[in-house]
Amino acid sequence: MKNKQPHPTNNILYSSEDIRQRVDELIDEIASTCDTENLVVLGILRGSFIFLADLVRGFNRHKIHPRIDFITLSSYGAGTISSGKVKIIHDIDVDLKNADVVVVDDILDTGRTLQFARDLFIERGASSVRTCVLLDKKRERAVEMEADHAGFRIDDVFVVGYGLDHNNYYRELPHIAKLTFDTI
Ligand code: IMP
Ligand code: MG
Repeated sequence: MKNKQPHPTNNILYSSEDIRQRVDELIDEIASTCDTENLVVLGILRGSFIFLADLVRGFNRHKIHPRIDFITLSSYGAGTISSGKVKIIHDIDVDLKNADVVVVDDILDTGRTLQFARDLFIERGASSVRTCVLLDKKRERAVEMEADHAGFRIDDVFVVGYGLDHNNYYRELPHIAKLTFDTI
């Protein structure tokens, strides 16, 4: 099967090796702040699926054994501009009472998605909610929200790969690339 879309491989910001190294550091960072018997790792779909899979496999070397679930949230629709309203498309199925939650997302942009998720899980009875994103965009947030753990701080550009998409394409790329208009 041939590619239906041109694949952005010229504007690589982080190679798969860069990502692997940083994710390894994040695993140690999270493990050192994670003293609980009741850890629940919640990924925000769909952008977090690859990042979360790499993170939790590293938890094993720290003997951390979380429950894992996913919530599908949507704020973008199609395109590169956030619509501003976060909706639950598909909910988690875990009781969060007294749980220590780590929310995992691919990227912190306006802050609305992560804030929505954090507030929702606190409302549902979690004892604590920490947040972890692979990428943190240097921009003014629409809401007051910063991540507890962040992989890389990037300029305000649109990026794809390692789970991040544009119109649901490019998620499978092993690196993170900047999407430029000639590749859209
Ligand atoms: P926020 O609610 O504006 O912080 O946006 C977070 C969500 O928007 C993330 O979960 C991503 O799915 C998406 N997003 C924001 N910036 C980018 C980007 O540069 N590339 C791909 N998706 C992005
Ligand atoms: Mg997305």
